[in-house]
Amino acid sequence: MMDGLFITFEGMEGAGKTTLARWLSDHLQAEGMRTWFTYEPWEPRLRSILLEHSNLQSTEELLLFVADRAIHTRYIRERLAEGTIVVCDRYADSTLIYQGYGRGIDIEWVRALNRFATGDLCPRRTYLLDVPVEIGLSRQRELNRIGAEEIAFHERVRQGFLQEAEREPQRFMVLDATRDLQELQSVIWADVHTHLR
Ligand SMILES: Nc1ncnc2c1ncn2[C@@H]1O[C@H](COP(=O)(O)OP(=O)(O)OP(=O)(O)O)[C@@H](O)[C@H]1O
Ligand SMILES: [Mg+2]
Repeated sequence: MMDGLFITFEGMEGAGKTTLARWLSDHLQAEGMRTWFTYEPWEPRLRSILLEHSNLQSTEELLLFVADRAIHTRYIRERLAEGTIVVCDRYADSTLIYQGYGRGIDIEWVRALNRFATGDLCPRRTYLLDVPVEIGLSRQRELNRIGAEEIAFHERVRQGFLQEAEREPQRFMVLDATRDLQELQSVIWADVHTHLR
């Protein structure tokens, strides 16, 4: 049985995932807890292919994300077994949403690949930062090839995330990411404490 706590942040480009995930990890650490801030795509060579290589086909992209997750999950499991709180910036939900809802690959097929890659490891809590597409894109710092997608793609992503959150209301907490960072931090902080022993 794993002792650690696995927390993920999800949402579109510019929603605030990296800002809040880093903040949460740092704050838990300041309280004396052992944490690991991590992100996907994770393996450096796969990450650069996935974020920069512009002529990847949907199937190729899906398989590389899933391969990356299989490697990453092995390290996440190790940390959880040591009792570490793992705070991850994007995880399996992102593949389900971007490759499934966004690119149109069969959703159940993507779900099955995720289960295969993760051995069914699932976050205990997922903070979904929901933001209107225009606001997310305007906040995004560096435009990668996903951020350069058409608006309709990002709308499918936003709706996909909300739909998945409805499927698993006990895992997801949907947050209005247009709120002030400080407000979001206090909601997350209070919620995280309900998951700590
Ligand atoms: N609630 C918020 N209010 C105002 N600004 C915010 C808020 N959340 C994040 N920002 C700002 O928006 C920008 C993008 O945030 P961040 O990089 O955390 O998003 P992200 O979800 O990680 O994006 P990406 O998917 O592109 O990595 C940053 O400059 C951050 O300071
Ligand atoms: Mg980010």
